Amino acid sequence: MALNALETLKTLVRFPSVSTDPTRKAALLDTKDFLVDTLAGMGFATETLETQGHPIVLAERKVAETAPTVVIYGHYDVQPEDPVQLWESAPFEPTVKGDRIYGRGAADNKGPVAVLLAAVSHLLEQQPSLPLNLTFLLEGEEEIGSPSFKPVLDRLKHRLRGDFLLACDTGSQKNDQIVVTAGLRGITCLEFKVKGARKDLHSGIYGGAVLNPIKALMDICHSLHNADGTVNVPGFYDDVLPVQQWERDELEKLGLDLDAFQDFLGVPGFFEQAGLSPLEATRYAPTLEYNGVWGGYQGEGSKTVIPCEASVKISCRLVARQDPDKIQDLVIQAIRERCPKGVSLEIKKDHNGAAYLVVPPGKPNTATDLNPVLARAFHLTDALSAECFGKPAVFMREGGSIPIIHDIKEILGLDSLLIGLYLPEDGYHAPNESFSLEMMEKGQQMIERLLAGLCESE
Ligand code: BES
Ligand code: ZN
Repeated sequence: MALNALETLKTLVRFPSVSTDPTRKAALLDTKDFLVDTLAGMGFATETLETQGHPIVLAERKVAETAPTVVIYGHYDVQPEDPVQLWESAPFEPTVKGDRIYGRGAADNKGPVAVLLAAVSHLLEQQPSLPLNLTFLLEGEEEIGSPSFKPVLDRLKHRLRGDFLLACDTGSQKNDQIVVTAGLRGITCLEFKVKGARKDLHSGIYGGAVLNPIKALMDICHSLHNADGTVNVPGFYDDVLPVQQWERDELEKLGLDLDAFQDFLGVPGFFEQAGLSPLEATRYAPTLEYNGVWGGYQGEGSKTVIPCEASVKISCRLVARQDPDKIQDLVIQAIRERCPKGVSLEIKKDHNGAAYLVVPPGKPNTATDLNPVLARAFHLTDALSAECFGKPAVFMREGGSIPIIHDIKEILGLDSLLIGLYLPEDGYHAPNESFSLEMMEKGQQMIERLLAGLCESE
């Protein structure tokens, strides 16, 4: 019997595979075991690739040297369920309500992984001798920046071949049109602490004599943006690939309405960025964001204190051609140069990942060496978006990051076809994450027809 996507997803959601949480290590291993068993049951040769962190599942179906080879990527780890009190159903108890299934990871990325597994299972049941080589690569550390994946890619480099990588870990805007993600943003993360006195001080006795670390931290942070919303770090924009006209045209095709976008977010207004609309800024511009800031008294009422330290976490989203290591160093240099006298700094680098770019066939600057099987897959996806969902696909860069997609291109030489099955209302990373049953069903149909289509002569 072919795998059922919804049942598979329910099983996956029950594993609390939160990669960042060391107490959930066993759940990650259980998820990995379930995937290995499932793929073995589908006739794949499976292997568990051990890493410094959570293991990677490798499963292969090799039929013929001359057949096309698709490598399917997904991740079985999820974000933490916090804030848990805001969930309306238990985060790790899959709950179907209306036309959605709720649970942590129901969308990102267990839903699409279940869809891909079910599509392959159903297709192979119908056509057991389908002339298509398939490799699944499923990792457990995507949500923490895939720290263990690169060394594994180096190890696999000589034996893992393929025409392209297929992943469904990105979004579409509506259920009637697939967005094919033509690029992902990169990322660099860091954290810094500003330190003042040996210990917290009475603000009456010492206030006026010493620089408050919170003020120093706010001054440094304030200096990191210009009044027009751009990032004020010398060299930050030097290598940025500007938005192309065809990319603006594709975005237009979505017919998105700014008021509706504002309403959806619930913000009273947008943060204007020079030269770019809010919809363009999320896809085509780099950013510098504060992810957390703390220091001083946070309790009820007031406390007259000059805290001895204050901290902030920063991440920058990067676009194609920006080097994450270089940007991280530039931001750190700016912070150091702008740190006032009277306080000291401690800076900690966190993870980095490069942006990814693949220009679809027929657009200006399409790579001349774009793999022909991938070019065909792009065309098929375009047509299948119309047939299975309603309208032809749009091809756009996206704001989110999956850093390993760039590394796979660099190390294995594979470009990616990224088919968006998430919708904005899925709320991935947030409480009450959900996945649309309609997107699951149509998505499965589309993947089956795409894989089958790759084996037909044109
Ligand atoms: N699936 C997302 C990335 C995504 C979502 C890309 C929607 C495009 C559209 C992925 O699981 C994710 O959240 N990635 C992290 C990566 C980071 C931890 C290195 C991200 O973007 O924050
Ligand atoms: Zn995610």
